[in-house]
Amino acid sequence: MAEAPLTTHRILLIVGGGIAAYKALELVRLLRKAGAEVRAVLTDGGAQFVTPLSLAALSGHPVHQALFSPDDETTMGHIELSRWADLVVVAPATAGLIAKAANGLADDLASTTLLATDKRVLMAPAMNVRMWQHPAVQANLARLRGFDGLHGVATVGPDDGEMACGEFGPGRMAEPVAILAAIRDLLAGDRPLAGRRAVVTAGPTFEPIDPVRGLTNRSSGKQGYAIAAALAAQGATVTLVSGPVGLDAPEGVHRVWVETAVEMKAAVDAALPCDIAVMSAAVADWRVDGVASGKIKKAPGGPPSLALIENPDILAGISAPGPRRPALVIGFAAETGDLVDNARAKLSRKGCDWIVGNDVSDDVFGADSNTVTLFLRDGTSQAWARQSKADVARALVDRIVAHFA
Ligand code: C5P
Repeated sequence: MAEAPLTTHRILLIVGGGIAAYKALELVRLLRKAGAEVRAVLTDGGAQFVTPLSLAALSGHPVHQALFSPDDETTMGHIELSRWADLVVVAPATAGLIAKAANGLADDLASTTLLATDKRVLMAPAMNVRMWQHPAVQANLARLRGFDGLHGVATVGPDDGEMACGEFGPGRMAEPVAILAAIRDLLAGDRPLAGRRAVVTAGPTFEPIDPVRGLTNRSSGKQGYAIAAALAAQGATVTLVSGPVGLDAPEGVHRVWVETAVEMKAAVDAALPCDIAVMSAAVADWRVDGVASGKIKKAPGGPPSLALIENPDILAGISAPGPRRPALVIGFAAETGDLVDNARAKLSRKGCDWIVGNDVSDDVFGADSNTVTLFLRDGTSQAWARQSKADVARALVDRIVAHFA
């Protein structure tokens, strides 16, 4: 199974001055690949080993170097930088940086940021073996680890082995994959849906008439994809059952392509059992009875008539009581009028727990924003101001997290 993505996670990487700084570049690459946003602080020492340009190119953001910089203070100063992050990673953490952090010394951007942050700090120490074994370094690390609560510093490595200086022993910085694993572990504490399974449907279905024609619904899939991404970012294991759309699968989400409603239902059934079902697809209510095996030709007698048969209602099916019913089933109601009445009626007819209602007369199809109202089983509802589909997804997933808390 794919690793949980780090999408929406922000990592502030402080690169200290040691030969291991070159491995920090690989760490940035791995973090970006996992979906994380990375900003880097480069110490003067670090800049002796890697260039700001390499770090900027890999992180996709300017690199922060100076404590007193007119540029940085107008864009992102040390306070803002330390607050922006979800996690601060120091790699390599030199003996000097460790000593400053342990004693609250703040005389450059790196040490000031470490003192200003209200987020967890992970250090990957790297130094000569004799320095590593010096009681001053060990005492400083013990002090850092022992700070209360969020201030307690986590460490990864160092590894044993041959060092750049030619000596053997502990002191080599942990490999970037090991640092990434430690980052995932620390962030896992923030992933309240870890261990929960979710199935999300998204996009339209396509019901063939003949090999070249079909019936479909309007749906870009953007809202459903954003929900799948937001669920995965909170640690859920997500199966995204998608009709034909032109979107990339969100990081860490298992996507299953389908075309018809019947295929969509089979894929949803195959994803059960799960805890959360979000049915946001625009499923065609009918399919053509007797799909023509060859292209239907225009004929002088006028247009052909199509016999339609009803498609299975996937949402109603998954909402039906039974051992495989997900603990929380959320449907969508796209309406062009009477949103409240229609959404409420749909909630009881389908048997789901919540309905996300949206007025689609309001330029929603394919747009990046959405205006929705959440209707709950207990008769209450919440109207949310128009916001991006990503924010709608995050708000919905916040509610889901609260539901399971
Ligand atoms: O009945 P209506 O299509 O308006 O209901 C919308 C809700 O039902 C959406 O959540 C949609 O994904 C779901 N649905 C379904 N299977 C169908 C029709 C709708 O899951 N055949």
